[in-house]
Amino acid sequence: MQLQLSTWAEVEAYLKRSAGVIVPIGSTEQHGPNGLIGTDAICAEAIGRAVGEAVDAMVAPTIAVGMAQHHMAFPGTMTLRPSTLIQVIRDCVVSLAAHGFRRFYFVNGHGGNIAIVQSAFGEVYAETSMAPRDDGRAGDNRGGVQCTLRNWWLRPPVVKLAKELYGEHEGLHATPSEVSLTQHVYRDHIKKADMLPAPPATLDFADAFDFRRRFPDGRMGSHPALSRPEHGKQFLDVVVADLAADYRTFLAA
Ligand code: NI
Repeated sequence: MQLQLSTWAEVEAYLKRSAGVIVPIGSTEQHGPNGLIGTDAICAEAIGRAVGEAVDAMVAPTIAVGMAQHHMAFPGTMTLRPSTLIQVIRDCVVSLAAHGFRRFYFVNGHGGNIAIVQSAFGEVYAETSMAPRDDGRAGDNRGGVQCTLRNWWLRPPVVKLAKELYGEHEGLHATPSEVSLTQHVYRDHIKKADMLPAPPATLDFADAFDFRRRFPDGRMGSHPALSRPEHGKQFLDVVVADLAADYRTFLAA
């Protein structure tokens, strides 16, 4: 059930039976020689919506621009500063919380968002944790909002499948697994590019210019020429089954 495709009356009815909402969050950034700029947002959105269907949950609009300052030396990349993204996430959560949503299940497609999303959750909790208390009850979190973050590419069934299909060629960025997923979702937008496997990479980089110096074609240790739309369907199936069960557990806690 997508928030954007619902009426306010449908949202009101939904809130009578559930306080849960899935929030896809991605990034709009270069993804190597054959990866789409929207890869991280496309993956988070496809997974978030499929999980929403599987568990009959509301799915919020995708937060499609993330924290991607390190990709800014490649054309097409868009980024929010860490401080801006924290405020965007905070305001999205607080808006939905005002209507009665209480369980926020973020499905993330971009490693650069992880620390920012966790910081934003801290900002949300601080609003109630630090609010003036008129009843003298220490530690009373009156908001009752709970947020959680799931990074789809780090889920054990995804890691296992990526290892089986690509071994060490999965790499760290512009990976064949995420490119395969976009190829499955957008079969009319599959790109071809000549490339050899990239050398192993680490997460040691600083600004956008340092990143491009270290990773000239945008990949980090990956070989996305191995990407196939059929693999993308496999990734989608395993991660949706995994996260659907996980969402139910999160809501029941
Ligand atoms: Ni990515």
